[in-house]
Amino acid sequence: MENFFYNIPTKVSFGKGAIDDLPGYISEYGDSVLLVYGGGSIKRTGLYDRIIKLLDCSHISHIELSGVEPNPRLTTVKKGVQMCLEHDVKVILPVGGGSTIDCSKAIAAGACYDGDPWNLVGHPEKIENAMPIIAVATMAATGSEMDPFAVITNEETKQKKDIASDLLYPAYAILDPEYTFSVPAYQTAAGVADIMNHIFEVYFADNGDTYMQDRMMEALLKTLIKYGPVAVSEPDNYDARANILWASEWAINGFIACGKDGPWPAHSIEHQLSAYYDITHGHGLAIITPVLMDYILNEKSLPVLVNYGVNVWDIEKTKDPYDIAREAISKTQKLYEDMGLTSDLGELGVPYEKDFDEMAEKAASEDLEHCRVPLTKSDVVEIYRRCFKNVK
Ligand code: NZQ
Ligand code: ZN
Repeated sequence: MENFFYNIPTKVSFGKGAIDDLPGYISEYGDSVLLVYGGGSIKRTGLYDRIIKLLDCSHISHIELSGVEPNPRLTTVKKGVQMCLEHDVKVILPVGGGSTIDCSKAIAAGACYDGDPWNLVGHPEKIENAMPIIAVATMAATGSEMDPFAVITNEETKQKKDIASDLLYPAYAILDPEYTFSVPAYQTAAGVADIMNHIFEVYFADNGDTYMQDRMMEALLKTLIKYGPVAVSEPDNYDARANILWASEWAINGFIACGKDGPWPAHSIEHQLSAYYDITHGHGLAIITPVLMDYILNEKSLPVLVNYGVNVWDIEKTKDPYDIAREAISKTQKLYEDMGLTSDLGELGVPYEKDFDEMAEKAASEDLEHCRVPLTKSDVVEIYRRCFKNVK
Protein backbone atom coordinates (compact mmCIF):
# COMPACT_ATOMS: atom_id res chain seq x y z
CA MET A 1 0.00 0.00 0.00
CA GLU A 2 1.35 3.45 -0.94
CA ASN A 3 1.56 6.31 1.54
CA PHE A 4 -1.41 8.62 1.45
CA PHE A 5 -2.94 11.72 2.95
CA TYR A 6 -6.60 11.32 3.88
CA ASN A 7 -8.77 14.40 3.60
CA ILE A 8 -12.36 14.42 2.34
CA PRO A 9 -13.63 17.80 3.49
CA THR A 10 -17.05 17.87 1.77
CA LYS A 11 -19.97 17.87 4.20
CA VAL A 12 -22.84 15.74 2.92
CA SER A 13 -26.52 16.28 3.48
CA PHE A 14 -28.27 13.16 2.18
CA GLY A 15 -31.93 12.29 1.85
CA LYS A 16 -35.45 13.55 1.25
CA GLY A 17 -35.83 17.27 1.81
CA ALA A 18 -32.09 17.89 2.15
CA ILE A 19 -32.45 20.99 -0.02
CA ASP A 20 -34.19 22.86 2.81
CA ASP A 21 -30.85 23.35 4.53
CA LEU A 22 -29.35 25.14 1.52
CA PRO A 23 -29.81 28.74 2.73
CA GLY A 24 -28.10 27.92 6.03
CA TYR A 25 -25.09 26.50 4.22
CA ILE A 26 -24.85 29.47 1.86
CA SER A 27 -25.06 31.99 4.68
CA GLU A 28 -21.81 30.61 6.13
CA TYR A 29 -20.11 32.26 3.16
CA GLY A 30 -22.28 35.25 2.23
CA ASP A 31 -25.57 36.27 0.69
CA SER A 32 -25.01 36.10 -3.07
CA VAL A 33 -24.62 33.11 -5.36
CA LEU A 34 -23.90 32.21 -8.94
CA LEU A 35 -26.53 29.57 -9.72
CA VAL A 36 -25.18 27.24 -12.42
CA TYR A 37 -27.25 24.67 -14.29
CA GLY A 38 -27.49 22.76 -17.54
CA GLY A 39 -30.01 22.49 -20.33
CA GLY A 40 -33.14 22.87 -18.23
CA SER A 41 -33.86 19.56 -16.50
CA ILE A 42 -33.99 21.39 -13.17
CA LYS A 43 -36.76 23.64 -14.51
CA ARG A 44 -38.78 20.65 -15.73
CA THR A 45 -38.52 18.86 -12.38
CA GLY A 46 -39.47 21.90 -10.30
CA LEU A 47 -36.15 21.96 -8.45
CA TYR A 48 -35.28 25.35 -9.92
CA ASP A 49 -38.45 26.94 -8.53
CA ARG A 50 -37.86 25.38 -5.14
CA ILE A 51 -34.32 26.72 -4.95
CA ILE A 52 -35.28 30.21 -6.09
CA LYS A 53 -37.98 30.28 -3.40
CA LEU A 54 -35.48 29.20 -0.74
CA LEU A 55 -32.99 31.85 -1.86
CA ASP A 56 -35.63 34.60 -1.98
CA CYS A 57 -37.03 33.73 1.44
CA SER A 58 -33.53 33.98 2.91
CA HIS A 59 -32.65 37.21 1.08
CA ILE A 60 -29.86 35.57 -0.84
CA SER A 61 -29.33 37.27 -4.18
CA HIS A 62 -28.43 35.27 -7.27
CA ILE A 63 -27.30 35.50 -10.83
CA GLU A 64 -27.55 32.58 -13.24
CA LEU A 65 -25.32 30.75 -15.68
CA SER A 66 -27.50 28.28 -17.60
CA GLY A 67 -26.93 25.99 -20.56
CA VAL A 68 -23.82 24.20 -19.30
CA GLU A 69 -23.20 21.49 -21.88
CA PRO A 70 -22.74 17.79 -21.16
CA ASN A 71 -18.92 17.64 -21.58
CA PRO A 72 -18.66 21.25 -20.35
CA ARG A 73 -16.66 23.66 -22.42
CA LEU A 74 -13.91 26.08 -21.58
CA THR A 75 -15.86 28.95 -23.16
CA THR A 76 -18.68 28.37 -20.66
CA VAL A 77 -16.18 28.32 -17.80
CA LYS A 78 -14.81 31.67 -18.97
CA LYS A 79 -18.32 33.10 -19.14
CA GLY A 80 -18.90 32.06 -15.52
CA VAL A 81 -15.58 33.53 -14.38
CA GLN A 82 -16.52 36.82 -16.01
CA MET A 83 -19.87 36.82 -14.22
CA CYS A 84 -18.17 36.24 -10.85
CA LEU A 85 -15.74 39.09 -11.49
CA GLU A 86 -18.47 41.51 -12.58
CA HIS A 87 -20.86 40.74 -9.71
CA ASP A 88 -20.30 40.35 -6.02
CA VAL A 89 -20.68 36.58 -5.92
CA LYS A 90 -19.72 34.80 -2.72
CA VAL A 91 -20.69 31.18 -3.46
CA ILE A 92 -20.97 29.02 -6.59
CA LEU A 93 -24.14 26.92 -6.55
CA PRO A 94 -24.19 24.21 -9.23
CA VAL A 95 -27.45 22.27 -9.53
CA GLY A 96 -27.20 19.34 -11.92
CA GLY A 97 -25.00 16.50 -13.09
CA GLY A 98 -21.24 16.22 -13.26
CA SER A 99 -20.96 18.62 -16.19
CA THR A 100 -22.62 21.45 -14.29
CA ILE A 101 -20.61 20.75 -11.15
CA ASP A 102 -17.31 20.44 -13.04
CA CYS A 103 -17.96 23.69 -14.88
CA SER A 104 -18.67 25.36 -11.52
CA LYS A 105 -15.47 24.06 -10.00
CA ALA A 106 -13.43 25.41 -12.89
CA ILE A 107 -15.22 28.74 -12.46
CA ALA A 108 -14.46 28.67 -8.73
CA ALA A 109 -10.75 28.26 -9.45
CA GLY A 110 -10.73 30.53 -12.51
CA ALA A 111 -12.33 33.43 -10.64
CA CYS A 112 -9.39 33.44 -8.21
CA TYR A 113 -6.72 33.09 -10.89
CA ASP A 114 -5.28 35.86 -12.99
CA GLY A 115 -5.11 34.20 -16.40
CA ASP A 116 -6.74 31.69 -18.73
CA PRO A 117 -8.39 28.92 -16.61
CA TRP A 118 -7.01 26.37 -19.09
CA ASN A 119 -3.54 27.11 -17.64
CA LEU A 120 -4.75 25.36 -14.48
CA VAL A 121 -4.98 22.00 -16.23
CA GLY A 122 -2.22 19.79 -14.86
CA HIS A 123 -1.08 22.56 -12.51
CA PRO A 124 -2.74 22.21 -9.12
CA GLU A 125 -0.02 24.42 -7.63
CA LYS A 126 -1.39 27.37 -9.63
CA ILE A 127 -4.70 27.10 -7.77
CA GLU A 128 -3.94 29.11 -4.65
CA ASN A 129 -7.53 29.92 -3.87
CA ALA A 130 -11.01 28.98 -5.03
CA MET A 131 -14.53 30.23 -4.37
CA PRO A 132 -16.68 28.03 -2.11
CA ILE A 133 -18.94 25.58 -3.93
CA ILE A 134 -22.21 24.14 -2.65
CA ALA A 135 -23.24 21.38 -5.03
CA VAL A 136 -26.75 20.05 -5.50
CA ALA A 137 -26.44 16.79 -7.42
CA THR A 138 -29.29 15.69 -9.66
CA MET A 139 -27.79 12.53 -11.05
CA ALA A 140 -25.58 9.69 -9.85
CA ALA A 141 -22.50 9.31 -11.99
CA THR A 142 -19.31 11.30 -11.68
CA GLY A 143 -19.27 11.94 -7.92
CA SER A 144 -17.99 15.41 -8.76
CA GLU A 145 -20.03 16.81 -5.85
CA MET A 146 -17.64 15.08 -3.44
CA ASP A 147 -14.33 15.07 -5.32
CA PRO A 148 -11.56 17.52 -6.26
CA PHE A 149 -11.72 17.25 -10.09
CA ALA A 150 -13.23 19.36 -12.86
CA VAL A 151 -13.10 17.80 -16.32
CA ILE A 152 -13.27 20.46 -19.01
CA THR A 153 -13.24 20.32 -22.81
CA ASN A 154 -11.18 22.81 -24.77
CA GLU A 155 -13.12 22.93 -28.04
CA GLU A 156 -10.31 24.65 -29.94
CA THR A 157 -7.60 22.08 -29.17
CA LYS A 158 -9.96 19.09 -28.87
CA GLN A 159 -8.60 18.30 -25.43
CA LYS A 160 -10.58 17.06 -22.47
CA LYS A 161 -8.59 17.41 -19.26
CA ASP A 162 -8.83 17.65 -15.47
CA ILE A 163 -8.38 20.71 -13.35
CA ALA A 164 -7.64 19.26 -9.92
CA SER A 165 -7.01 20.67 -6.47
CA ASP A 166 -8.06 19.91 -2.92
CA LEU A 167 -9.49 23.44 -2.92
CA LEU A 168 -12.12 22.22 -5.39
CA TYR A 169 -13.86 19.78 -3.08
CA PRO A 170 -17.32 21.32 -2.68
CA ALA A 171 -17.93 22.66 0.82
CA TYR A 172 -21.32 20.93 0.88
CA ALA A 173 -22.96 18.28 -1.28
CA ILE A 174 -26.73 18.11 -1.15
CA LEU A 175 -27.86 14.65 -2.20
CA ASP A 176 -31.55 13.90 -2.40
CA PRO A 177 -32.10 10.64 -4.31
CA GLU A 178 -35.56 11.88 -5.31
CA TYR A 179 -33.94 14.48 -7.58
CA THR A 180 -32.51 11.59 -9.58
CA PHE A 181 -35.91 9.96 -10.29
CA SER A 182 -36.23 11.99 -13.49
CA VAL A 183 -32.85 10.96 -14.92
CA PRO A 184 -33.69 9.13 -18.18
CA ALA A 185 -32.92 5.40 -18.42
CA TYR A 186 -30.06 6.06 -20.82
CA GLN A 187 -28.29 8.52 -18.51
CA THR A 188 -28.99 6.27 -15.53
CA ALA A 189 -27.26 3.35 -17.24
CA ALA A 190 -24.36 5.50 -18.44
CA GLY A 191 -24.01 6.86 -14.91
CA VAL A 192 -23.83 3.36 -13.42
CA ALA A 193 -21.16 2.39 -15.98
CA ASP A 194 -19.20 5.51 -15.05
CA ILE A 195 -19.39 4.79 -11.32
CA MET A 196 -18.32 1.18 -11.84
CA ASN A 197 -15.42 2.35 -13.93
CA HIS A 198 -14.23 4.77 -11.26
CA ILE A 199 -13.96 1.72 -9.04
CA PHE A 200 -12.29 -0.44 -11.70
CA GLU A 201 -9.60 2.18 -12.33
CA VAL A 202 -8.58 1.94 -8.68
CA TYR A 203 -9.24 -1.80 -8.30
CA PHE A 204 -6.83 -2.60 -11.13
CA ALA A 205 -4.05 -0.27 -9.91
CA ASP A 206 -0.98 -2.14 -8.80
CA ASN A 207 0.09 -0.92 -5.35
CA GLY A 208 0.75 -4.06 -3.39
CA ASP A 209 -1.62 -5.45 -0.79
CA THR A 210 -4.71 -3.24 -0.41
CA TYR A 211 -6.98 -5.99 0.89
CA MET A 212 -9.29 -3.69 2.83
CA GLN A 213 -9.97 -1.27 0.00
CA ASP A 214 -10.34 -4.11 -2.50
CA ARG A 215 -13.12 -5.73 -0.48
CA MET A 216 -14.85 -2.37 -0.07
CA MET A 217 -14.68 -1.80 -3.80
CA GLU A 218 -16.26 -5.18 -4.38
CA ALA A 219 -19.14 -4.20 -2.09
CA LEU A 220 -19.63 -0.99 -4.08
CA LEU A 221 -19.57 -2.92 -7.37
CA LYS A 222 -22.13 -5.41 -6.06
CA THR A 223 -24.36 -2.50 -5.07
CA LEU A 224 -24.24 -1.06 -8.59
CA ILE A 225 -24.84 -4.43 -10.24
CA LYS A 226 -27.85 -5.02 -7.98
CA TYR A 227 -29.45 -1.61 -8.26
CA GLY A 228 -28.40 -0.34 -11.72
CA PRO A 229 -30.98 -2.40 -13.63
CA VAL A 230 -33.61 -1.64 -10.97
CA ALA A 231 -33.15 2.12 -11.37
CA VAL A 232 -33.35 1.75 -15.16
CA SER A 233 -36.65 -0.14 -15.05
CA GLU A 234 -38.15 1.55 -11.96
CA PRO A 235 -36.94 5.15 -12.06
CA ASP A 236 -38.85 6.10 -8.88
CA ASN A 237 -37.39 3.30 -6.77
CA TYR A 238 -35.96 5.29 -3.84
CA ASP A 239 -33.77 2.51 -2.48
CA ALA A 240 -32.17 1.86 -5.85
CA ARG A 241 -31.55 5.56 -6.50
CA ALA A 242 -30.26 6.13 -2.96
CA ASN A 243 -27.82 3.23 -3.02
CA ILE A 244 -26.49 4.19 -6.46
CA LEU A 245 -26.10 7.84 -5.49
CA TRP A 246 -24.23 7.06 -2.28
CA ALA A 247 -22.03 4.51 -4.08
CA SER A 248 -21.19 7.13 -6.70
CA GLU A 249 -19.64 9.33 -4.02
CA TRP A 250 -17.52 6.57 -2.47
CA ALA A 251 -16.33 5.47 -5.88
CA ILE A 252 -14.40 8.68 -6.40
CA ASN A 253 -14.18 10.76 -3.23
CA GLY A 254 -10.67 9.50 -2.54
CA PHE A 255 -11.42 6.92 0.13
CA ILE A 256 -11.00 3.73 -1.92
CA ALA A 257 -7.94 5.28 -3.55
CA CYS A 258 -6.10 5.66 -0.23
CA GLY A 259 -2.85 3.79 -0.80
CA LYS A 260 -3.86 2.96 -4.37
CA ASP A 261 -2.46 5.32 -6.92
CA GLY A 262 -1.99 5.09 -10.65
CA PRO A 263 -3.23 6.07 -14.10
CA TRP A 264 -6.88 5.74 -15.15
CA PRO A 265 -6.59 4.02 -18.53
CA ALA A 266 -10.27 3.64 -19.45
CA HIS A 267 -10.84 7.32 -18.65
CA SER A 268 -7.82 8.42 -20.67
CA ILE A 269 -9.09 6.37 -23.61
CA GLU A 270 -12.69 7.59 -23.25
CA HIS A 271 -11.97 11.27 -22.69
CA GLN A 272 -10.57 11.49 -26.21
CA LEU A 273 -13.84 10.14 -27.60
CA SER A 274 -15.98 12.66 -25.75
CA ALA A 275 -13.56 15.46 -26.69
CA TYR A 276 -13.63 14.56 -30.40
CA TYR A 277 -17.20 13.31 -30.78
CA ASP A 278 -19.08 14.67 -27.78
CA ILE A 279 -20.32 11.20 -26.78
CA THR A 280 -21.76 10.44 -23.33
CA HIS A 281 -18.83 9.76 -21.00
CA GLY A 282 -20.37 6.80 -19.16
CA HIS A 283 -21.53 5.15 -22.37
CA GLY A 284 -18.04 5.42 -23.83
CA LEU A 285 -16.72 3.74 -20.69
CA ALA A 286 -19.35 0.99 -20.89
CA ILE A 287 -18.02 0.12 -24.34
CA ILE A 288 -14.33 0.44 -23.51
CA THR A 289 -14.28 -1.33 -20.12
CA PRO A 290 -14.96 -4.94 -21.20
CA VAL A 291 -12.71 -4.52 -24.25
CA LEU A 292 -9.90 -3.15 -22.10
CA MET A 293 -10.30 -5.91 -19.48
CA ASP A 294 -10.12 -8.52 -22.22
CA TYR A 295 -7.14 -6.82 -23.89
CA ILE A 296 -5.08 -6.76 -20.70
CA LEU A 297 -5.99 -10.29 -19.62
CA ASN A 298 -2.68 -11.97 -18.82
CA GLU A 299 -0.80 -13.38 -15.82
CA LYS A 300 -0.47 -9.89 -14.28
CA SER A 301 -4.12 -8.96 -14.44
CA LEU A 302 -5.52 -12.44 -13.86
CA PRO A 303 -5.57 -12.36 -10.02
CA VAL A 304 -7.59 -9.13 -10.00
CA LEU A 305 -10.02 -10.39 -12.62
CA VAL A 306 -10.46 -13.64 -10.70
CA ASN A 307 -11.22 -11.69 -7.50
CA TYR A 308 -13.67 -9.60 -9.48
CA GLY A 309 -15.35 -12.69 -10.93
CA VAL A 310 -15.53 -14.64 -7.68
CA ASN A 311 -16.21 -11.88 -5.15
CA VAL A 312 -18.40 -9.60 -7.26
CA TRP A 313 -20.15 -11.92 -9.72
CA ASP A 314 -20.17 -14.99 -7.44
CA ILE A 315 -18.57 -17.17 -10.10
CA GLU A 316 -17.55 -20.59 -8.80
CA LYS A 317 -13.93 -20.27 -7.65
CA THR A 318 -13.00 -23.82 -8.58
CA LYS A 319 -13.26 -22.98 -12.29
CA ASP A 320 -10.19 -22.35 -14.44
CA PRO A 321 -8.91 -18.83 -13.60
CA TYR A 322 -8.96 -17.66 -17.23
CA ASP A 323 -12.53 -18.92 -17.60
CA ILE A 324 -13.51 -16.98 -14.46
CA ALA A 325 -11.92 -13.84 -15.87
CA ARG A 326 -13.63 -14.18 -19.26
CA GLU A 327 -16.98 -14.92 -17.66
CA ALA A 328 -16.67 -11.84 -15.44
CA ILE A 329 -15.83 -9.68 -18.45
CA SER A 330 -18.77 -10.96 -20.47
CA LYS A 331 -21.14 -10.51 -17.51
CA THR A 332 -19.96 -6.91 -17.24
CA GLN A 333 -20.71 -6.27 -20.91
CA LYS A 334 -24.08 -7.98 -20.64
CA LEU A 335 -25.01 -5.85 -17.63
CA TYR A 336 -24.44 -2.68 -19.67
CA GLU A 337 -26.33 -4.10 -22.65
CA ASP A 338 -29.22 -5.17 -20.43
CA MET A 339 -29.42 -1.58 -19.19
CA GLY A 340 -29.83 -0.48 -22.82
CA LEU A 341 -26.29 0.55 -23.78
CA THR A 342 -24.75 -0.57 -27.05
CA SER A 343 -21.31 -2.20 -27.06
CA ASP A 344 -20.53 -0.83 -30.51
CA LEU A 345 -18.72 2.49 -30.74
CA GLY A 346 -19.81 2.74 -34.38
CA GLU A 347 -23.41 3.15 -33.21
CA LEU A 348 -22.40 6.32 -31.33
CA GLY A 349 -21.29 7.91 -34.58
CA VAL A 350 -17.55 7.51 -34.02
CA PRO A 351 -15.83 6.90 -37.38
CA TYR A 352 -13.58 3.84 -37.59
CA GLU A 353 -9.84 4.60 -37.72
CA LYS A 354 -10.21 8.30 -38.63
CA ASP A 355 -8.76 9.87 -35.47
CA PHE A 356 -7.48 6.73 -33.70
CA ASP A 357 -3.84 7.69 -34.04
CA GLU A 358 -4.26 11.21 -32.70
CA MET A 359 -6.59 10.13 -29.88
CA ALA A 360 -4.37 7.20 -28.89
CA GLU A 361 -1.35 9.47 -28.73
CA LYS A 362 -3.16 11.80 -26.33
CA ALA A 363 -4.50 8.92 -24.22
CA ALA A 364 -1.18 7.09 -23.98
CA SER A 365 0.57 10.29 -22.89
CA GLU A 366 -1.49 10.18 -19.66
CA ASP A 367 0.99 7.86 -17.95
CA LEU A 368 -0.51 4.65 -19.34
CA GLU A 369 2.91 2.98 -19.30
CA HIS A 370 2.44 2.73 -15.53
CA CYS A 371 -0.77 0.69 -15.64
CA ARG A 372 -0.75 -2.81 -14.12
CA VAL A 373 -0.48 -3.96 -17.74
CA PRO A 374 1.36 -1.09 -19.48
CA LEU A 375 -0.32 0.37 -22.55
CA THR A 376 1.37 2.07 -25.50
CA LYS A 377 -0.15 4.21 -28.21
CA SER A 378 -0.49 1.19 -30.51
CA ASP A 379 -2.27 -0.77 -27.76
CA VAL A 380 -4.77 2.06 -27.44
CA VAL A 381 -5.35 2.13 -31.22
CA GLU A 382 -6.07 -1.61 -31.06
CA ILE A 383 -8.48 -1.09 -28.14
CA TYR A 384 -10.38 1.55 -30.15
CA ARG A 385 -10.59 -0.93 -33.04
CA ARG A 386 -12.01 -3.68 -30.82
CA CYS A 387 -14.78 -1.35 -29.65
CA PHE A 388 -16.36 -1.64 -33.11
CA LYS A 389 -18.59 -4.58 -33.91
CA ASN A 390 -19.38 -4.45 -37.61
CA VAL A 391 -16.32 -3.28 -39.46
CA LYS A 392 -16.04 -4.45 -43.03
O1 NZQ B 1 -28.29 19.64 -18.71
P1 NZQ B 1 -29.53 19.16 -18.07
O2 NZQ B 1 -30.77 19.70 -18.68
O3 NZQ B 1 -29.51 19.28 -16.58
O4 NZQ B 1 -29.64 17.57 -18.42
C1 NZQ B 1 -28.65 16.63 -18.06
C2 NZQ B 1 -27.80 16.19 -19.23
O5 NZQ B 1 -28.52 16.27 -20.43
C3 NZQ B 1 -29.32 15.35 -17.66
N1 NZQ B 1 -29.74 15.33 -16.26
C4 NZQ B 1 -28.99 15.51 -15.16
N2 NZQ B 1 -29.76 15.38 -14.05
C5 NZQ B 1 -31.02 15.11 -14.48
C6 NZQ B 1 -31.01 15.09 -15.89
N3 NZQ B 1 -32.12 14.87 -16.62
C7 NZQ B 1 -33.27 14.65 -15.95
N4 NZQ B 1 -33.34 14.64 -14.59
C8 NZQ B 1 -32.25 14.87 -13.84
N5 NZQ B 1 -32.35 14.83 -12.50
O6 NZQ B 1 -28.35 14.35 -17.87
C9 NZQ B 1 -27.54 14.73 -18.97
C10 NZQ B 1 -26.10 14.45 -18.62
O7 NZQ B 1 -25.65 15.33 -17.61
P2 NZQ B 1 -24.10 15.44 -17.27
O8 NZQ B 1 -23.95 16.40 -16.17
O9 NZQ B 1 -23.34 15.70 -18.53
O10 NZQ B 1 -23.77 13.94 -16.84
P3 NZQ B 1 -22.68 13.38 -15.87
O11 NZQ B 1 -23.05 13.59 -14.46
O12 NZQ B 1 -22.46 11.99 -16.31
O13 NZQ B 1 -21.35 14.24 -16.15
C11 NZQ B 1 -20.51 13.95 -17.24
C12 NZQ B 1 -19.31 14.85 -17.26
O14 NZQ B 1 -18.49 14.68 -16.08
C13 NZQ B 1 -17.14 14.33 -16.47
C14 NZQ B 1 -17.37 13.63 -17.77
O15 NZQ B 1 -16.19 13.50 -18.53
C15 NZQ B 1 -18.40 14.52 -18.42
O16 NZQ B 1 -17.80 15.67 -18.95
N6 NZQ B 1 -16.48 13.58 -15.40
C16 NZQ B 1 -16.21 14.20 -14.25
C17 NZQ B 1 -15.54 13.60 -13.22
C18 NZQ B 1 -15.23 14.29 -11.96
N7 NZQ B 1 -15.55 15.55 -11.81
O17 NZQ B 1 -14.66 13.69 -11.08
C19 NZQ B 1 -15.04 12.24 -13.33
C20 NZQ B 1 -15.70 11.49 -14.41
O18 NZQ B 1 -14.89 10.39 -14.71
C21 NZQ B 1 -15.97 12.26 -15.65
O19 NZQ B 1 -14.84 12.37 -16.48
ZN1 ZN C 1 -15.86 8.81 -15.18
